[in-house]
Amino acid sequence: MEFSTLTTASLHQIKTAALAVGAYTDGMLTPAADVIDRASHGALREVLKSEFQAKPGSHLVLRKLEGVSAARVILIGLGKQQAYSAAVHAKAEQAFANYCVQARLTEAVSTLAATECATAGLAQRAQAAAAAAGQAAYHYDATFGKRERNDAPRLKKFALSVTRAQNAEAQRGLHLGAAIAQGVNLARELGNLPANVCTPTYLGGVARKLAREFKSLKAEVLDRKQIESLKMGSFLSVARGSYEPPAFIILKHTPPGAKGAGKSRKAPIVLVGKGITFDAGGISIKPAASMDEMKYDMCGAASVLGTLRAVAEIGLEQEVIGLIPACENLPSGRANKPGDVVTSMSGQTIEILNTDAEGRLVLCDALTYAERYKPAAVIDIATLTGACIIALGHVNSGLFSTDDALADSLLQAGRQAQDTAWRLPLEDAYQEQLQSNFADFANIGGRAAGSVTAACFLSRFTSAYPWAHLDIAGTAWRSGGKEKGGTGRPVPLLVQYLLSQA
Ligand code: BES
Ligand code: MN
Ligand code: ZN
Repeated sequence: MEFSTLTTASLHQIKTAALAVGAYTDGMLTPAADVIDRASHGALREVLKSEFQAKPGSHLVLRKLEGVSAARVILIGLGKQQAYSAAVHAKAEQAFANYCVQARLTEAVSTLAATECATAGLAQRAQAAAAAAGQAAYHYDATFGKRERNDAPRLKKFALSVTRAQNAEAQRGLHLGAAIAQGVNLARELGNLPANVCTPTYLGGVARKLAREFKSLKAEVLDRKQIESLKMGSFLSVARGSYEPPAFIILKHTPPGAKGAGKSRKAPIVLVGKGITFDAGGISIKPAASMDEMKYDMCGAASVLGTLRAVAEIGLEQEVIGLIPACENLPSGRANKPGDVVTSMSGQTIEILNTDAEGRLVLCDALTYAERYKPAAVIDIATLTGACIIALGHVNSGLFSTDDALADSLLQAGRQAQDTAWRLPLEDAYQEQLQSNFADFANIGGRAAGSVTAACFLSRFTSAYPWAHLDIAGTAWRSGGKEKGGTGRPVPLLVQYLLSQA
């Protein structure tokens, strides 16, 4: 999609298929809406008196207004003016973008970001607008027949109407939002692809393709033999159950400016993504209902690839390294069995009491591998526990960290990018649940606090650096029905966090 700004003062003369303007519940109009209202002899105030309540995220289509060049004016509800916030603004942009896509428009103009908001500056509002438009235009068609694939004229051009003084800042925000949207859409696409297409090898190919596309990215894909030489016994034990070859993917972003001599290099930030391309549970097999959704068990990996894509597009001044342990978790004659003991790359032994707790088994070796970079921080992202959905639902990702400063930066980034997380505890008292009679510790800690004990397990591999863990089991995709599909979360949170560190 093409993003741009428009700086004309005469909004009523903008020629576009759809022009978005905002209204509040108390009958107040945004400055842009006021211009349109005057040009159309009060058409907007008229509908505000009658059929339009201006609830947040609602919209009303007004066609062919007299005195207005836009084919449609889309009046967007902004709720109460005193309560107007970054979140309401983002919701309004989403409502407009979704309308445009549903109406099969190819271009549109929004005035919404130009209006002041107490909780978000102009750049942030422009970013939210671009992120909303870019994501609304996403459409999954990779595995349909030809006819389905060619059907849609999609939103191709999206412009923000701003004042001349706002232009430079709006451009900056637009660029960031566009990059985030593309990262999000890549993560959604990878999540949505079926497991017979999106294999570990396929994910490795995506990393290589990104490295060809962006100069700042370098990809390396380790095969089973190389993973064996690294002694990743825990990761390999999960991979053994499937014929599909595993892959350990390394995707590195080196800042454009970092190559010059004399520039002191900051320590890198490492992102580790769970890449289980299908999780049947292994010998501790899952029930059949909704098992298809376990193709999404690589959404952590997808978010790492999406984030690195965005980071490269932005040209971020911070080294970022993505690590992805990728394999399938299937039952077979070579699969892990409950009671098996494996030796992780760290040397610590693990008693596998449930083969369905495989995410932590692949992540732990990647966390040990991360030590070699002497990272400033390591963040792992994983669809790790069903228990996290019970705790937080589909609203917040679960955040665990032993480092308060890192946790706070991630929470803040999540709020700023409208991709929130909620911190859960990670105390030594929970570690006791992982006690094992036959190994250094077990891979499960019983039903109580399942997300916490999973994080506790991971923490045993992270003593060398500041570390945080995002459990995205509830936020990475939407289940069932028409809404079913990858969300691309937490790409916005991660990109925003990395921007804050650069
Ligand atoms: N990939 C699942 C977690 C999951 C379940 C994510 C449902 C999204 C929806 C993970 O590998 C898993 O199976 N976890 C087990 C852990 C248990 C055996 C301790 C779980 O949550 O049931
Ligand atoms: Mn599992
Ligand atoms: Zn899993």
